[in-house]
Amino acid sequence: MTHDLYEIIHRRRDVRGEFTGEPVPDATLDRILTAAHAAPSVGLSQPWDFVVIRDRAVREAFHEHVCYERTVYAAGLTAEAAARFARIKIDGVLESTLSIVVTYDPRRGGPAVLGRHAIADAGLYSVCLAIQNLWLAATAERLGVGWVSFYREDFLRDLLGVPAGVRPVAWLCLGPVTALQETPDLERHGWRSRRPLHLARHDERWTVAGG
Ligand SMILES: Cc1cc2nc3c(=O)[nH]c(=O)nc-3n(C[C@H](O)[C@H](O)[C@H](O)COP(=O)(O)O)c2cc1C
Repeated sequence: MTHDLYEIIHRRRDVRGEFTGEPVPDATLDRILTAAHAAPSVGLSQPWDFVVIRDRAVREAFHEHVCYERTVYAAGLTAEAAARFARIKIDGVLESTLSIVVTYDPRRGGPAVLGRHAIADAGLYSVCLAIQNLWLAATAERLGVGWVSFYREDFLRDLLGVPAGVRPVAWLCLGPVTALQETPDLERHGWRSRRPLHLARHDERWTVAGG
């Protein structure tokens, strides 16, 4: 069982190019959302909501926005980095079966959320834990997930009718895949490599990386 969990953690990938568009059974989607909803949250606030989007027109509108934001990002890169970035796919919004937008409502469980008085971001951390649960559950179901963050929150709020004050935290593409890559896309494309654990680990006090 423990072995299974580690296997899923290491098999998980961010997917952009491998979605097949095949259906996701409702029971599977329910299991995945139930796993997300079981995440820990500051003060048991459960500040997340999940907007499940299958509508092609909505996904097309979002995709157009993502393409625009891609050009905004690319405009800030050096010519060499922009050329590398041009080869990298950053979303599978149209190819995946469905999308799930995960939101954060800072008012949920308020006004005095237990454990959030000194760290306002603890609510956002909670939402990210729900997302990670979702991601791992989908991986266990042999589905792929791709997190898309090339968007402006206001645009997404308007597109989905999300109330003012509720923050869209992630647009997640989800669905069956041909395969999960063994190496992250950004590493395969020479954009960036994973940092070894020993550089991230500090014993007792902060030490200079590699020292
Ligand atoms: C907060 C967050 C935002 C991300 N946004 C995007 C995105 O907009 N487009 C994309 O292709 N990947 C996105 N990713 C995926 C990362 O690029 C990916 O997790 C990283 O390269 C490591 O690859 P792996 O998830 O396959 O291990 C995002 C991941 C996180 C956690």
